[in-house]
Formats: sequence, C-alpha cells, structure tokens
Amino acid sequence: MTSNRLRLGVNIDHVATLRNARGGMVPDPVRAALMAEAAGADGITAHLREDRRHIVDVDIDGLMAALKVPLNFEMAATEEMKTIALRHKPHAVCIVPEKREERTTEGGLEVAGQDSLLAAYMAPLQAAGAQVSLFIGADKRQVEAAARIGAPVVELHAGAYADAWAEERWAERDSELAKITDMVAYGTQLGLEVHVGHGLTYDSVGPIAALQDVAELNIGHFIIGEAIFRGLGPAIAEMRRCMDEARG
Ligand code: PXP
Repeated sequence: MTSNRLRLGVNIDHVATLRNARGGMVPDPVRAALMAEAAGADGITAHLREDRRHIVDVDIDGLMAALKVPLNFEMAATEEMKTIALRHKPHAVCIVPEKREERTTEGGLEVAGQDSLLAAYMAPLQAAGAQVSLFIGADKRQVEAAARIGAPVVELHAGAYADAWAEERWAERDSELAKITDMVAYGTQLGLEVHVGHGLTYDSVGPIAALQDVAELNIGHFIIGEAIFRGLGPAIAEMRRCMDEARG
C-alpha cells in the first residue's frame, strides 16, 4: 500500500515541440517546468528521445540545474541514454520503448522477453541512486517480469484507456480501465510502486486517480494544450483538483 497522496508529474515535452517548430529558443521548457513547480507539480517529466524531436540535451542540463522538485527522465534503453542519465543522476529514470516512426510512445516495454537484458541495464542506474521505473502495458506478464527483475516502480500505459474515452468507445474504455485497476492491485501486491500515464485528461483522470494504490500520474500533452486557453498554472491546478476530487 503506497501513501494516499497522489503525485502529479507534469511532462513538459510539448513546450519543446512548440519551440522546435520554429527552431528558436521560445517557448522555453525550463521556464514551463519552473511554472509547473510553482503551480504544485510534484515532479517534472521529460523524455529525451533519440531523435531529439522535442526535449534536447541542453533542456536536461537546464532542468537539472533549475528544478527543486524531482526530474523523471524518460528514455529508451540505449547506451547513449544510459550515459546521459548517469551523468545527470536524475531522481527517477523511466525506461520507455521507442520507435522513430511513432508519433508518441505507443504501447509498453516488452519486459518479459528481455528480462536479463533489462536487469543488467537497470543495475548501474539504480546503483547511481535513480529510481527506475518501467513503462509497461497493463499486462500481468509484464508486471510479473518487472517485479522479478527488481524494478521498484512500473508506470502503466493509459493510452488505450484514454483513446477509448476520447473516441467515446465506452465498452472498451471500461475494459481498459478494468485492466489498469487489476494491474495496479497486482503490481502493488508484488511490492511495486505503481504509476500511470499517457493521454490523461480532466475527464479521464478521475477513475485512475480514484485507485488508491496509484502513487503518481504523469501527464503532459493535455495540460500543455489546455495551457493555451487557461495558462499553465491554472491548467495544472485544475488537473490537481480533478485528481483530488476523485481521490476523495
Ligand atoms: N508517461 C510516459 C512514460 C510517457 O511516455 C508519456 C508521453 O511521453 C507520458 C507519461 C505523458 O503522456 P501525455 O503527454 O499523453 O500526457
């Protein structure tokens, strides 16, 4: 059983997406991260992709120098990323699958099929003090494999649930929510800390936030989009309110 306080990690990748659309310096993701921190984010999440399509290396330097709240550094399990993570020693490293052709992280990591490889990959990161989490589907095999190789944290991919919600496929939304609910319980039973992320909105966050064993949500795209209309601080405050209301 984890603490009942549900943490909100704000993913600022898409501030960088907007900056990169013009190739200049603005908007600055580090400034956004500091605003998110001031608005009550419990952590900042940033994904340094291999193709640097949004966050770039200097953003990670800037985030590490500026933030008081923990940085959750998302990365693929490559040697290059391991070297960068070991240089910065962020609070958390979330290992995600990555394909160049995908628009965003589609699906979770295949842990079950490469457990010894991932265990060896995680070891120096854990030795350096990073809390390693594995971004996986809400799938029993993957949850069991994550626990078996000693990952302290898993983040369950909420994309299928969030997409079903957005497209009003209610039966599918409910079955995806049931899978997440079951795997939150199972992961917790196996001693894992369980996070959830991807695609969450003000509407879809409630049923996930209501799961008392979920320790952290990582939310980006929707918050950054909503910030255009409300401002970043109010967009985050409203997400926090939705989470707290659901948590009860
Ligand atoms: N968690 C993980 C592991 C992710 O890869 C992402 C997307 O980069 C998120 C959370 C945030 O997803 P979204 O931007 O759709 O809220």
